[in-house]
Amino acid sequence: MLAAYAADLSPDDPLSGLVVGDRPEPEVPEGWVLVDVRAAALNHHDLWSLKGVGLGHERLPMILGCDAAGVDQEGREVLVHSVISSPGWTGEQTLDPRRTLLSELHQGTLAEQVAVPAGNLVPKSAGISFEEAACLPTAWLTAYKMLCVNGGPPGCTVLVQGVGGGVASAAIALGAATGYRVWATSRDEGRRQRALELGAEAVFEPGQRLPERVDVVLETVGAATWSHSLKSLRPGGTVVIAGATSGDAPSHAELTRIFFQQLRVQGSTMGNLEQLTQLVRVLEQTGVRPLIDRVLPLSEAAAGLAALERGEVFGKVVLTP
Ligand SMILES: NC(=O)c1ccc[n+]([C@@H]2O[C@H](COP(=O)([O-])OP(=O)(O)OC[C@H]3O[C@@H](n4cnc5c(N)ncnc54)[C@H](OP(=O)(O)O)[C@@H]3O)[C@@H](O)[C@H]2O)c1
Repeated sequence: MLAAYAADLSPDDPLSGLVVGDRPEPEVPEGWVLVDVRAAALNHHDLWSLKGVGLGHERLPMILGCDAAGVDQEGREVLVHSVISSPGWTGEQTLDPRRTLLSELHQGTLAEQVAVPAGNLVPKSAGISFEEAACLPTAWLTAYKMLCVNGGPPGCTVLVQGVGGGVASAAIALGAATGYRVWATSRDEGRRQRALELGAEAVFEPGQRLPERVDVVLETVGAATWSHSLKSLRPGGTVVIAGATSGDAPSHAELTRIFFQQLRVQGSTMGNLEQLTQLVRVLEQTGVRPLIDRVLPLSEAAAGLAALERGEVFGKVVLTP
């Protein structure tokens, strides 16, 4: 079957290790099922994998991709939940220290077929397209948990840093649709305008002083925006962090501000199966849909990943096998 996979790893030139070509059909262990992939979305995670972050040479070749929507062998339209628990784990999925995402230990979703644990399927609602559904399991689920589980209740003022990213653009659209007052920052004027179209109430340049302090900041940019995130919070406010695209060692950690203003720093990673199911319902009930930057054939995976690497995309890149 056709697949986009890591044949080699390179921290400096991640796309050099990418191959789009033939791979054997997936093996299906007991308790797992096969899904015919109709759409798969790209994430920054795929670039991290090609750089060798979270993926070692001993696991190559590895089919990339965390996100998929497709059809199971009984003909049901499904989303694939990407968090794979370790054998015997029964607690909260995202707290399993040995959990993995598809494409870390088990072959990923950028392929015609993917094998997943039977319990990792969520029904796709008919009103959501395969392309839209493929955006939900990683970026949208991460944004949903950051905002609605770890952030604060509707009505809060939420600052989203770096609007162009998949998680950030999802957080803006979801927040606006579910009753949050959303403010956002971006380095780029065009992206700031698009954030307004997505539902942000106000937009700012990175580091710009805000008209008032906010209840919650959603961080995925990391070092480049960390100091501003903490300065932007009201006393007792919460910064929820799920990523650090620009680096994870900020020059100003703002430790004094954290204790003196009694700020809460809340890490957040992916979400569980129940939260993915809730997210599908939120889409059904609000009508909000993932913003898709472009849909490409799987054979053009390299072009999609290159656009992601150059930071050119706004919303999600979706591949169709
Ligand atoms: N923990 C989890 O479960 C989880 C899940 C998904 C993603 N993540 C992580 O979250 C991060 C975001 O991923 P993503 O795919 O949504 O987006 P992304 O492509 O990594 O981009 C995020 C945004 O960061 C801003 N940015 C990048 N470099 C910057 C810099 N040097 N200075 C200022 N801003 C910068 C850009 O916004 P502007 O151009 O608009 O300024 C960009 O659109 C990644 O690190 C990813 O690994 C974590």
